[in-house]
Amino acid sequence: MGFESMWADLLPMGRDDRSGGYHRFAWTPPELECRAWFLDEARRRDLEVEHDANGNIVAWWLPEDGTRGDAVLTGSHLDSVPGGGAFDGPLGVVSAFAAVDLLRERGVRPRRPIGIGAFAEEEGARFGVACLGSRLLTGAIDPARARALTDAEGRTFAEVLYGAGLDPEAIGPDEGLLGRVGCYVELHVEQGRALTGPVGVASAIVPHGRWRFGFGGEGNHAGTTLLADRRDPMLPFAGMVLAAREAAERNGTVATVGKVRVEPGGVNAIASSVTAWLDARGPADEAVRRTVAEVDEAARRAAAGHGVSVDLAEESYTEIVDFNLALRDRVAKALETRWPDGVPGGVPVLPTGAGHDAGILSARLPTAMLFVRNPTGVSHAPAEHAERDDCLAGVEALAAVLTDLADG
Ligand code: GLV
Ligand code: MN
Ligand code: MN
Repeated sequence: MGFESMWADLLPMGRDDRSGGYHRFAWTPPELECRAWFLDEARRRDLEVEHDANGNIVAWWLPEDGTRGDAVLTGSHLDSVPGGGAFDGPLGVVSAFAAVDLLRERGVRPRRPIGIGAFAEEEGARFGVACLGSRLLTGAIDPARARALTDAEGRTFAEVLYGAGLDPEAIGPDEGLLGRVGCYVELHVEQGRALTGPVGVASAIVPHGRWRFGFGGEGNHAGTTLLADRRDPMLPFAGMVLAAREAAERNGTVATVGKVRVEPGGVNAIASSVTAWLDARGPADEAVRRTVAEVDEAARRAAAGHGVSVDLAEESYTEIVDFNLALRDRVAKALETRWPDGVPGGVPVLPTGAGHDAGILSARLPTAMLFVRNPTGVSHAPAEHAERDDCLAGVEALAAVLTDLADG
């Protein structure tokens, strides 16, 4: 039941043994395996499991008097990006179970309920909208829009929920669940190389979003179509990719085109359409918005020059998140109590360029995040890593925070 055996159990689920990358997309067999693992771990500890209507799961450790309100929620997510690392998401969930074990071993009797959450479709790898489970829970996305989202095979979110035994008509804000949660603390692997010690605390999440560009051209023969006669959507698409890099450099942001769909995808055929996804993030809303506007303008100019149509849709946007100061201070103090001689390497407080359910939940609750050092600095890729001792320090840190918070 310890951290390492839980980690070892999860490790093979959804791993591509050739690349070492994980493919755990919401409600696909590897992610369902992870969910079954979660339920098993909850059962072993006699935690009460709550499934909300949005596919999120919470395992509750209730105080002896059965109190259900003002709970301390922790956890993270079990899904991954395509070819992702082992730590992004599962580290927070495994650490939460391990931290509860530590509290129990130490005889802590929580006065507030402690919940371990696994949020659905955090990466948005299947349906395109990141943090879909927490967005639905908090009302940050219209349920009708969510129901109509489709995966790569054209299956709607509604169909997939139905197939998983959930009622698609019931999705949406859950004030009952939210009303019982007093705060949320998510532990997560750091996704850069900013930590000098094993753990850190998050200050903010930078503004970030996803946009979909559609380029429409004319499919034709790669050998017989004269250059002058072509309406090739690959050309403005290529221009848009380069424009994203240039706009990011100009605006002090980052912009990435990491996913593209080319139809019909023949080597010897001019494409008829290209769909490309832009991910843009930066320190301020205006800089991110300006980046996207500049990429859009460049894409339109390039498309017009090649007789190609272009349309743009915003799939998701998250404004800057400043984590709750009082909770952040309390988290930092709990770490000082745990390591009275100083946390090795100190406890840096740092912003992140990565999105998290904690960011979405922060619109409704005080939230905080703990980061665990990642020596490679790589994330969303197989090289994402955290050393065993740092993971165990993360568990200790989370246990200290939960001990403090659960006391009232
Ligand atoms: C999620 O990890 C994101 O930052 O996109
Ligand atoms: Mn991620
Ligand atoms: Mn994550």
